[in-house]
Amino acid sequence: MIITTTEAGHGPAIVLLHGFPLDQSMWHAQRSEIGKHYRVITPDLSGHGQTPLGDQPLTVDRMADDVVELLDHLQIEGSVVIGGLSMGGYVALSIVARYPNRVRALLLINTRAGADVPDTARIREELARVVEQAKSTSIVVHTMLPRLFAPETFQTQPELVASMRKVMTESDPVGVAATSRALATRTDRVPDLAKIKIPTLVIAGSNDQLIPLAESEAMAVAIPGSDLVVIPDSGHLSPLENPDATNAAISAFLGRLA
Ligand code: MLT
Repeated sequence: MIITTTEAGHGPAIVLLHGFPLDQSMWHAQRSEIGKHYRVITPDLSGHGQTPLGDQPLTVDRMADDVVELLDHLQIEGSVVIGGLSMGGYVALSIVARYPNRVRALLLINTRAGADVPDTARIREELARVVEQAKSTSIVVHTMLPRLFAPETFQTQPELVASMRKVMTESDPVGVAATSRALATRTDRVPDLAKIKIPTLVIAGSNDQLIPLAESEAMAVAIPGSDLVVIPDSGHLSPLENPDATNAAISAFLGRLA
């Protein structure tokens, strides 16, 4: 199954993978700005946005396979820059571990390499069950939305919060339940970090309520030669909450690759 994608611009390709339970719309500011100099490819991962869940059981590694299949379909044969936010970062780490020849450089945005601890995995299973029973994602909106943004963003950018609320509310409950289980069973990629030999930028939101800054710092230390940039005035969704600073960090990183 070829996943649905949106893209903008021409030039070297950069693939940006969205978080859970969101879709490609979270990258609109990167498509318009980074897309001035690069080909920005922003798929909807399986079970999200316009991409159906498909028949195969959903895993983070399958999402990674889907992205590589998309690159093949787009006839992009060489290596590309892959970036991912949170869940998208889990997928990016799976791609770099399993398809190292396809990745020229890596952007890890508000994400982590470790697998779920048992308590988190249990909560995800519970969430999946409630979503399935209710045939609604409202529990996910209720539990996740307050933590997706920096506390100040709720006051300063209410329209942004409303637009992500809409995406989450309209997400397919079957896709959300399957993804919740896929995240709970993902591979621990911490042992792979020291093996990453490509240019890597770790981006952290200054006020991310889901990924503590210390975790991003530790990830950057574990990846040889990587850089860390902290985006001010930002929670978990830096590309949306502070697009100017996020785009500046991404552009500077891409510029150094040239
Ligand atoms: C995300 O933003 O993708 C989620 O916070 C990932 C997760 O729940 O682990």
